[in-house]
Amino acid sequence: MWFILKSINLLCEYSLNPIGLDEKTPRFSWEVEVNDQGKFQSAYQILVASSREKIQNNHGDVWDSGKVKSEQSVNNVFEGKLLESGEKYFWKVKIWDEKGKEGLTSDISTFEMGLLNPKEWEGYWIEQDDDEIKGPLFRKDFTIEKDIKRARAYVTGLGYYELRLNGQKIGDKVLDPGWTDYDKRILYSTYDITKDLNKRKNAVGIMLGNGRYAPDEEYVKKTASVTPLHSLQVFGGKPVALLQINIEFCDGSKISIYTDNNWKVASGPITFNDIYNGEVYDARLEKEGWDIADYDDSDWEIVSKANPQPKGKLVSQTTFPTIKVSKTLYPKKIISPKPGVYVYDFGQNFTGWVRFRGVGKKGVKVKIKYAELLNNEGMLNTVPNRCADATDVYTFKGTGEEVYEPRFTYHGFRYVEIIGFSGTPSLKNIEGRVVHTAVPETGNFFCSNNLINKIHNNILWGQVSNLMSVPTDCPQRDERMGWMGDAQLLAEEAAYNFNMVGFYKKWLADMRDAQQEDGSVPDLVPPYWHRYPADPAWGTACLVIPWYVYLFFNDKRILEENYLMMKKWADFLQTNSKDNIILELGKYGDWCPPRHKHSVDTSLDLVSTWYYYHATLIVYRVAKILGKEKEAEKYNERAAKIKEAFNDRFIEEDGYSGTQYERGGNRGENLVPKDAPEEEKERIIKRWSKFFTEDSQTSNILPLYLDMVPDNKKDQILDALIHNITVVHSNHLNTGIIGTRYIMDVLTKNGYSDLAYKLATQTTYPSWGYMLKEGATTLWERWEYLADAGMNSHNHITFGTVDAWFYKVLAGINIDLSTPGFEEIVIKPIPINGLDSAGALLETIRGVISSKWQKGIESINLEVIIPGNSKAKIFVPKMDLENLVIEERGSIIWKDGEFKDKVSGINSGNEEKNYVMFSVNPGSYNFTTKSK
Ligand code: BGC
Repeated sequence: MWFILKSINLLCEYSLNPIGLDEKTPRFSWEVEVNDQGKFQSAYQILVASSREKIQNNHGDVWDSGKVKSEQSVNNVFEGKLLESGEKYFWKVKIWDEKGKEGLTSDISTFEMGLLNPKEWEGYWIEQDDDEIKGPLFRKDFTIEKDIKRARAYVTGLGYYELRLNGQKIGDKVLDPGWTDYDKRILYSTYDITKDLNKRKNAVGIMLGNGRYAPDEEYVKKTASVTPLHSLQVFGGKPVALLQINIEFCDGSKISIYTDNNWKVASGPITFNDIYNGEVYDARLEKEGWDIADYDDSDWEIVSKANPQPKGKLVSQTTFPTIKVSKTLYPKKIISPKPGVYVYDFGQNFTGWVRFRGVGKKGVKVKIKYAELLNNEGMLNTVPNRCADATDVYTFKGTGEEVYEPRFTYHGFRYVEIIGFSGTPSLKNIEGRVVHTAVPETGNFFCSNNLINKIHNNILWGQVSNLMSVPTDCPQRDERMGWMGDAQLLAEEAAYNFNMVGFYKKWLADMRDAQQEDGSVPDLVPPYWHRYPADPAWGTACLVIPWYVYLFFNDKRILEENYLMMKKWADFLQTNSKDNIILELGKYGDWCPPRHKHSVDTSLDLVSTWYYYHATLIVYRVAKILGKEKEAEKYNERAAKIKEAFNDRFIEEDGYSGTQYERGGNRGENLVPKDAPEEEKERIIKRWSKFFTEDSQTSNILPLYLDMVPDNKKDQILDALIHNITVVHSNHLNTGIIGTRYIMDVLTKNGYSDLAYKLATQTTYPSWGYMLKEGATTLWERWEYLADAGMNSHNHITFGTVDAWFYKVLAGINIDLSTPGFEEIVIKPIPINGLDSAGALLETIRGVISSKWQKGIESINLEVIIPGNSKAKIFVPKMDLENLVIEERGSIIWKDGEFKDKVSGINSGNEEKNYVMFSVNPGSYNFTTKSK
């Protein structure tokens, strides 16, 4: 048992012992392990050394921070010597407790730099000199004569690569590298291959897929025919690879192996691959042993230097979580709706593919088709996949049981159809491979209402299904884009459930790459479809995403890195406003309300102007945090003007409303490509021109959410909203994706948490419960069940925003906005009528937080864990008890309306409306209320 403080779980740039880092001034974070004596850090000392021996001898030759008086245990910036490319560093930290007592030194952690200098890439991009793209295989043999100390492979390939060494796949990444605008940035991965190399003979191999770098031409054509607005970003014509292996020997000498014209290439068994359409694999074309030394490659061609060489800057992928197979699922059912057609049901909608096994004669083809729905005959309904063929084809080589899973495609599905199987397949012939960006799961929510638990579970599935190196809208149809609106609405939910910091950091770099000179950002990032400028609700992702990273991780660097982008977007909105109202930019607004795709009740101008205000306010706050007082003032003043204009323009007699038709303008005008034919122009204008009613919940929700409503109007606006929900819509929401994001918070803040709960547990249309009742295992894009070729993804995350409310309000775990990164935690559960218990556990950058409550007959029991070096305000519900007594593990801490100073760690107690609020130190607490 330690009686002095210790730091644990050391992270460098949020990663455990990372290799291939390219942050030149990385940041260090640790958790403070609580004990009976010390709970807080008052000072720290970080040592960074160039060798293990030196760090063991407490010699920080690279950096010795000295004793720094600081409570900060998160994101302390490295300030030592210049960090060298490819070098490994060792670090540890010692902390002092609140009484100044010196603690134990941590264990030793490491970090290693990537290739920091572009000139260190000795080779160049290579490709197959063949006009047809056929999943090329690249190979090279090399010999090692000496004992290896350390070996690293730095590799990337566009669209996708698989790296192989001596017959094995290296690492567990799939669909790598992460998707970026390849003309601007290309991500490379770093692998530790020290143990994968042989003394003497070795072979390195690379397989390539097309990905979004060299998409299937058919897809390009088909998409372009959907609408001319979707002009596709096209890069190279064929896949390309780049690799460098750096080997350091025990005698100190070094060699490198890299891609150049000493490599050979041949077409492999993958004869077609495309993200949307699937993969075609002919096992007869496998080149047995191609990735092993001494393979006879005499009939292989010499590779070509890729022409053109990809333009993007090479950037390390180390801190960005990659796509992996996270789970294997087993099918629940198999049916045969027609002779020779077998349909499997996994009972769960998810993203990935299947691993197929079977026996077949040489040349026999099996078709594996994917869909989210079945039709009335029990066959797949592939119509909602739109242009995406979503079909993998496997040709047997006829050598006994063969196992196949695709590499360079992915699908969104619940059902799989197999055609061409010799004999009758069983449940054992396929397994589901769940694939997504492997963000660590950090949240865990549970409560006594099973419907809510199920909604939460559907949201988790929906969220991971749509993390495919960018936050996508859907995984199944011909879209799968980084739609900004979807992601910004979900930022809070995602941050509660997953560690999103590395994922968002990379996506923000994608956004900076995408921003144009005039400050405009596109609707989707990377801008694979060229859609500029974004709808304000979509574009404001470039402010909302960094803001949530800051709140959850106290990461000021993310604000610094993105401040210019944020400001430029807010300024772009100003340039495009008239008298502080945005009139021309809105395209989608409160997208997908009940019964419609378009925002029928809510004015686009209202939503756009509200986001203009929202964006401006965030810039104001960020400027303040970064100490830019003058700029803060400027944006604050601007925000005040927007608020005034918003209220002047949109408050009507019965609440906020945007009567758009008054300006007579046409919504679609700014979306019409100049050179489009007349008919097409008309079609687009008609499609996007909408008129609005006054039946909008969202119009009132938005100003209430940002406290914009003038005091003398507040009751009236709130009444209008409550009346609309309870009377007009009989306790149903009538919101699209924007209103739905904020409705729960607005109701709760204004004392209507019971009504919010009613909406959350509603089971008739439109509601989350309705989707579940209709068999949803994720969330739908629309409130209604649709199965045609329109917009009706059955795995959209846009309505998943309610999940943050489960954590904040039901479990009660909240961030104090003035102390981000959970430095001071607010635990304030609302014991909703009808709910018996709820709780959540969060793994944060400061350690685990947990809050769990259970109602007794008249009382409540609340158990809380607060991690080391954090403080908390814990609000214990009074439960309307007369002569209230609150005990902590049997000791009375509140009685006769007063705080009884009894339990160590609980510093004060005060009555606050329906709660008694205790200020506490780190530790675990167990409160029970009762009547004296
Ligand atoms: C996507 C949405 C997206 C929208 C923009 C759709 O096709 O699936 O989620 O935000 O377009 O209106």
